[in-house]
Amino acid sequence: MSTEADSHSSAFNLDPPVPLNVSKAYSIEDLRRAAQRRLPKAIFDFFDGGAEDEITLRDNRAAYQRVRLMPKVLTDVSTIDTSTDILGQRAQLPMAIAPTGAVGFGWRGGDIAIARAAAAAGIPYTLSSTATASIEQIANAAPGRLWFQAYILRNKPFLQTLIDRAQAADYEALVITVDLPVGGKRERDFRNDFSVPFRFTPKNLLDFARHPGWLSDIVRFGMPVMENLIGLESKATNATAIASSVGRNYDPSFNWEGLQKIRDGWPRKLIVKGILSPDDALRVAAMGCDAVVVSNHGGRQLDGAVATFDALPGVVKAIDGRIPVLLDGGVRRGSDIFKALAMGAQGVMLGRATLYGASAAGEPGASRALAILKDELVRTMQLCGVRSTGDANASFMF
Ligand SMILES: Cc1cc2nc3c(=O)[nH]c(=O)nc-3n(C[C@H](O)[C@H](O)[C@H](O)COP(=O)(O)O)c2cc1C
Repeated sequence: MSTEADSHSSAFNLDPPVPLNVSKAYSIEDLRRAAQRRLPKAIFDFFDGGAEDEITLRDNRAAYQRVRLMPKVLTDVSTIDTSTDILGQRAQLPMAIAPTGAVGFGWRGGDIAIARAAAAAGIPYTLSSTATASIEQIANAAPGRLWFQAYILRNKPFLQTLIDRAQAADYEALVITVDLPVGGKRERDFRNDFSVPFRFTPKNLLDFARHPGWLSDIVRFGMPVMENLIGLESKATNATAIASSVGRNYDPSFNWEGLQKIRDGWPRKLIVKGILSPDDALRVAAMGCDAVVVSNHGGRQLDGAVATFDALPGVVKAIDGRIPVLLDGGVRRGSDIFKALAMGAQGVMLGRATLYGASAAGEPGASRALAILKDELVRTMQLCGVRSTGDANASFMF
């Protein structure tokens, strides 16, 4: 996609018009605050928080902030090409949407909102297995490239049904998340009484009552449901009940042989998400997977795990061009994306950035997040003297 250099405000002219609460959002942090205002604390913290002391959550951001760029001048940057190959197909931006579960708690229909925003922006969208929209609902509602993310459940026939459904619904890729043999210890959830099984307590009822806009939707339409997990446990159908049952249903014995079986049984692109170690990355490439995502689950799993931007060079070196490397965690600025590309990533995945946008204002909010990141990426490329994403390299890092 070519973008005119002098169109400072073009990224902010959105159709449909931007709702008031995000029309003044000029950064992902602005969208984060808009989401924070709209949501009960328990819901916002579930989205925003990380594990234990949140060291890794913070370090994912800090890793980008620790490094500096070395711009080069006097390049004609009147036209910028932000498109890039992601898994063998052109994407309009070097970005894809990371899977996030329970989005419907933030905005009813939020999964579809983000998927539609991704399609409009020309980038792939990943549906979580713990999403509040089904595999088929997304396929029907969003016209773009779709990937399906699977957690490894103990119930293998159920897991296989999900994978078969994704294939039947024409999902292009399967994303296997490997950094969640057990759930991370997310203390904000405990403190907010967002623990599972979900309990209505005076504290969280007060929290909900302070957010009447959010609450009236829940009262009218009920709690969102984790659509893809209906039937996993017959007694548990609402989102929070299922969240607890999913915890019990993760398979901590899943190993390399299990991954190989999934590779052998899935005929399309297979992406392994949650890799930090160069050795693991090499093994993933050697067994015939199509891409790795350098990820620590947005700091929600192992606290103290290395920041993804810091882990990226080791993985890129080990993979040595065999398969594409994507990265997620802490991407909040276009310059973060540029830095990731310069250090060898093919693209980044966005978790909270679009989740904040959708939680603030549905599809226009998710589109706003993508527009902000695109505008910042284009500007960074222009200011660094880089005309196309393929030209970003380590010589632009200081
Ligand atoms: C609320 C929330 C739910 C998530 N759910 C999933 C999920 O269902 N599957 C998964 O593989 N990763 C999940 N993740 C992790 C994201 O895919 C991604 O790795 C992470 O959000 C990237 O960090 P960022 O949010 O700082 O961009 C979730 C993250 C958040 C914030």
